[in-house]
Amino acid sequence: MNDCAVERIIFSAEQINRRVAELAARLASDYPPGELATVAVLKGSFIFVADLARQLSAHDVHLAIDFLTLASYGRGSVSPGRVRIEEDSVLDVRDRDVLLVDDILDTGRTLRTAVDLLRGRGAKSVRTCVLLDKAARRQVDIQADYVGFPCPDVFVVGYGLDYAGRFRELPYVGAISVPGQ
Ligand code: IMP
Ligand code: MG
Repeated sequence: MNDCAVERIIFSAEQINRRVAELAARLASDYPPGELATVAVLKGSFIFVADLARQLSAHDVHLAIDFLTLASYGRGSVSPGRVRIEEDSVLDVRDRDVLLVDDILDTGRTLRTAVDLLRGRGAKSVRTCVLLDKAARRQVDIQADYVGFPCPDVFVVGYGLDYAGRFRELPYVGAISVPGQ
């Protein structure tokens, strides 16, 4: 498994920490103090949403959080580009303002699926917050309401993002080189 490595740092731990604090401040000015219904898309968003939750609590916004595990069918499968629910959230979103958090907005299929799901369950509003936005890769017409950083069109890992299950624990976001790709 030593066939790939982080080539360069794209966003440092310090940059990420600063930006997450800024996002929390913006969210806290858009939402009232108190509880904010939040659904985070696993697995990639677990570190981002944990940092966001702690930053938001300093602004007296407390995340009532649940998780949704979504996975894209891989290349070569019967339905490429389709998103399936691996584990559903149980948070009751009916008539609530919901914040949807994900690690990265790439083709847009994952976020589109999650937004539609929550709207279908009667959420009053659904706003989306992603750490990274790879706008060049978009295939579905969707934009996030809150974006940490615009991201270059390279495969990135760290701060929750993985390559084949690896690198999630890195405190920064880096680009990797994958032999043969
Ligand atoms: P989308 O459905 O194509 O927008 O992809 C969203 C999901 O693909 C993200 O939630 C990530 O889990 C994964 N993904 C997309 N780009 C990258 C990347 O550069 N590194 C790691 N995971 C990625
Ligand atoms: Mg993901």
